[in-house]
Amino acid sequence: MSDSLQVTDLVAGYSKTPVLDGISFSIQPGEFVALLGPSGCGKTTLLQVLAGFLKPASGSLVTNTTDITNLPPEHRNMAMVFQSYALWPHMTVFQNIAYALKLRKKSQAEIEQKVSEVLELVNLTGYEHRPVTGLSGGQRQRIALARALAVEPSILLLDEPLSNLDARVRASVRHEIKSLQKKLGFTAIMVTHDQEEAMSMADKVIILNQGKIEQAGSPESLYCSPASAFVADFMGAENKLTGTVYHKQDKDWLKLDHCDAPLPVPYTSASSYEGRVDVYFRSNEVSLAPEANTADQGFPAEAIVLQRSYMGQGYRHSIKLGDATCIVDHDKALDEQSLVQINLPPEALHIYPARENSAIAG
Ligand SMILES: Nc1ncnc2c1ncn2[C@@H]1O[C@H](COP(=O)(O)OP(=O)(O)O)[C@@H](O)[C@H]1O
Ligand SMILES: [Mg+2]
Repeated sequence: MSDSLQVTDLVAGYSKTPVLDGISFSIQPGEFVALLGPSGCGKTTLLQVLAGFLKPASGSLVTNTTDITNLPPEHRNMAMVFQSYALWPHMTVFQNIAYALKLRKKSQAEIEQKVSEVLELVNLTGYEHRPVTGLSGGQRQRIALARALAVEPSILLLDEPLSNLDARVRASVRHEIKSLQKKLGFTAIMVTHDQEEAMSMADKVIILNQGKIEQAGSPESLYCSPASAFVADFMGAENKLTGTVYHKQDKDWLKLDHCDAPLPVPYTSASSYEGRVDVYFRSNEVSLAPEANTADQGFPAEAIVLQRSYMGQGYRHSIKLGDATCIVDHDKALDEQSLVQINLPPEALHIYPARENSAIAG
């Protein structure tokens, strides 16, 4: 009960707003794909096109070997779970789930059987006759999930299904969606703007930026090798420094603006250009020390601790490095206003041509 999906050169939008600009990707049967991107980049629009609620201006959609580009939603073997649940408030749980089955002309006995089956799947057996207005957010989203599963979709589309739930409920519904997908085997495309959620649930992550795919790949490949500054930032490498890459003695060197020593650039991606660069890194991939530590390999620099907060596992420090402010984690608390040594290992640095064309510094 799962289909592949091939999306080719999709262009779509609303009358005066072009949104999707040449989207192509493919999904294997049974794969779990997370669609990640900032608000307004076109995630919901893409799901609407996949589901058949919005007609694309051009491009094609193929599931297995069937071209579905012009099929109406009810002939697509897909179901959608919406961010806001979209349950009918005047109907009971049973009526909400049964609705699409009635449209599909199922018998009363089949409908009853199916409703109790999907309620069991989402751990809400016995809730048939409750009004949906009396349910909690987590229960409503489970009912919305059950309703989608009742039509036995081979591709399930989920539009930020967890974003209206509080943290604890979110974790349990997240787990439930993932285990249902494993158990039933459907192909899933889930929109989220939460990097951690995307990484923990998906086989493949697609990052969307202003209607275009910025990068697609396994969670590991996006995390370790973000192809652009946008992806690096989105995948948690939120600290940004600036520097210069230059060639000398057959090597590429990176000179960070706030560190004295240049180091060879370990990245082949960096070696194709010279000049000003933006350098991104994660708060937990560099080290801090109260004083200079020559044992560490990497870029050393002096910094001042501005602020610190307790994270349960260690401390998070806001530090000032020249005119840049960075967030760095350390297992011990370092005093605010104290001078510390930061060490930036080359492998933690993601380097891209500078976005602003600032002057080359020596
Ligand atoms: N029904 C609509 N009519 C006109 N413009 C819309 C409509 N829905 C969304 N948009 C616009 O399309 C762009 C993409 O929106 P959307 O796909 O909802 O983004 P996301 O889900 O990534 O936040 C936005 O600029 C939004 O304002
Ligand atoms: Mg949206």
